[in-house]
Amino acid sequence: MSRVAEDWYDSASVRTRPRRMLDEDREAGLLVFPEHLVPHLRHEGVTGLGTDARRALLAQHFYQYMYFTTHLETRVVNRGTSLIAHGQVDLTLDARTRLDAFKIYCDEGYHALFSLDVVQQVEKSLGIPALPFDFEPRLARLERTAATFLPDHGSLAQLLQVVAFETVVTRFLAQIPRDPTVFRVVREAVDDHVKDEIHHHAYFVKFFKEIWASLSPALRVQVACAMPHFVNDCLRPDLGPVHSALLSVGLSPELTPAILEDCYREEVLTATVRESGRHTLRLCESVGAFDLPQAREQLDLLGL
Ligand SMILES: [Fe+2]
Ligand SMILES: [Fe+2]
Repeated sequence: MSRVAEDWYDSASVRTRPRRMLDEDREAGLLVFPEHLVPHLRHEGVTGLGTDARRALLAQHFYQYMYFTTHLETRVVNRGTSLIAHGQVDLTLDARTRLDAFKIYCDEGYHALFSLDVVQQVEKSLGIPALPFDFEPRLARLERTAATFLPDHGSLAQLLQVVAFETVVTRFLAQIPRDPTVFRVVREAVDDHVKDEIHHHAYFVKFFKEIWASLSPALRVQVACAMPHFVNDCLRPDLGPVHSALLSVGLSPELTPAILEDCYREEVLTATVRESGRHTLRLCESVGAFDLPQAREQLDLLGL
């Protein structure tokens, strides 16, 4: 059965790492987030803006990423891990797997806590308040996929959503802790997060294989068709918050749609999903999920 680190009590961030604090002296000359990870900062409609507006856009992008994390951890990932911990799944789970699910639950709760903590510290230090963040479009997308492919299997769908989020690998995230241009407090917080996620990844790879082995042939078809969509749902960025950020620095409502179109072109978004989702897609492939023609059709449909 699936395992989290044997030494969780002595290695998990929530058990061993200090609270990450922003110290303005340590951050002098650094940026809150890597500029190269914010596509719209390179757009000609944005490059001409003043320093304050560009700093605000960078800060909002950082806030959105951290807010996204807080929502994802508590509303999607921990929704699924608590099902596992309580044994509310159609699988025979051993005692250890259930206990490990609560370890992940604690990890994710802590990730949400320190993400919000760092946002609040950064807001205060920069004097740039975060815009409101709306997670509902993402939840709606996940629900839509669940309703389309697994209409009678709500909790299985919620578990697969967790498998998708916990096994995709966004390479840029792993680079932040080593990026010398970025706020130290941000590098430290992201490093704490990435270290825990390595263990979660391994747990959910095993967990998915066990789920798959337990499925009837009919349900396998449904799951195989749903997985590419869940990967797409979790990786495709929501552009609503970017739109709000552009408006907040004074760009006109007429100009912003064109900036979004230029910076987030369909083929670029699809390539990102393919690249960051490759581990999850390979995991599905490894169990034979994509040998099913119906699943291949869904992959083609999404360009994956
Ligand atoms: Fe996490
Ligand atoms: Fe996780």
